[in-house]
Amino acid sequence: MKILVTGGAGFIGSHTVVELQEAGYDVVVLDNLCNSSMKSLERVEKITGKKVPFYRADILDRAALDRIFEAEKADAVIHFAGLKAVGESVEKPWEYYENNIAGTLTLVDVMKKHGVKNIIFSSSATVYGNPAFIPITEECPKGQCTNPYGWTKSMLEQILSDIQKADSEWNVILLRYFNPIGAHKSGTIGENPSGIPNNLMPYITQVAVGKRERLGVFGNDYDTHDGTGVRDYIHVVDLARGHVKALDKIKENAGLKIYNLGTGVGYSVLDLVKNFEEATGVQIPYDIKPRRAGDIATCYADAQKAREELGWEAQYGIKEMCEDSWRWQKNNPNGYEE
Ligand code: NAD
Ligand code: WQD
Repeated sequence: MKILVTGGAGFIGSHTVVELQEAGYDVVVLDNLCNSSMKSLERVEKITGKKVPFYRADILDRAALDRIFEAEKADAVIHFAGLKAVGESVEKPWEYYENNIAGTLTLVDVMKKHGVKNIIFSSSATVYGNPAFIPITEECPKGQCTNPYGWTKSMLEQILSDIQKADSEWNVILLRYFNPIGAHKSGTIGENPSGIPNNLMPYITQVAVGKRERLGVFGNDYDTHDGTGVRDYIHVVDLARGHVKALDKIKENAGLKIYNLGTGVGYSVLDLVKNFEEATGVQIPYDIKPRRAGDIATCYADAQKAREELGWEAQYGIKEMCEDSWRWQKNNPNGYEE
């Protein structure tokens, strides 16, 4: 079975290509490299010992997509390509709606034209907004997003669901990721944020490696066990394997399916700092800062549905997530830049 991976040079995409190749799938990657480097795929090839056919192309470029689908005859698409910086999306809403929504509409239209009606889509726990209940099951109502990025995920879920409802030949699997961290055990691929990291773990690892002085902890007055925000951190390799499992639903012609991909366990900001220090022996100095706009107190998954229906469950705990994030950062202080 051949899988076209959009955004496959990125953080989650590159880890997923490894797992797909190791599970025996044929893989083709399409990425415009706007937030990634070819080096990630060169390193994937070293890990798996297999070639990764690659097209530098934009999902907005209908003619390029047409050529790729014509040439590759893929059976399914795993669709990671998208812009993902929450703060930037508030500054540049048009760019986010254009890239993520118009891009996906173009991709899906070309897929349909070529008779490829199988898609796994990268959604996010952000679609739950401030969740109505915790732990969050897939039945939890979607909420108000606090930024355009989140709305692109919520809207694309609706668009893809409607397309599947109108044409039952489509299989649409919506995967709602919680907070991916960690890196491949080899320490050769990992998260590579440009500029100041928005997310907690890459900020911590950049403090650890000496690129940033101190972590700012955004608020210690939330209604949580230590006042700092609680999240469901999930190892990126576990997340990648969730996509391999989701392909089985496509083979079963399962129609529309929605799954949370999380561990079901919540850790606060200070829990993560403490676990990182214990796992790596590196101290992370921090200051308490005001709350960050749009943040919620607590977000963690009920992971039962994916366990029961996909036979998927996270294998790695917080210690390995910290060790693996650190190995990647330590070996690659400047990410993929030499
Ligand atoms: P990433 O930025 O590392 O990967 C996204 C990839 O898509 C990049 O390689 C980028 O170059 C590519 N891309 C962007 N726009 C494109 C376009 N128009 N055409 C072709 N390629 C394009 O991000 P990631 O963390 O690997 O996230 C992958 C997906 O998962 C994204 O859709 C993201 O929104 C979603 N997601 C991420 C998280 C997270 O915390 N990392 C959480 C939930 C959902
Ligand atoms: C985690 C916790 C912060 C940075 C975001 C997106 C979400 C999804 C995953 C894509 C929070 C605190 C953070 C820092 C801090 N992405 N923090 N200091 O906000 O849960 O989710 O990434 O879909 O849509 O919103 O993740 O890593 O930014 O924050 O104290 O320097 O760490 O306040 O409590 P978040 P995060």
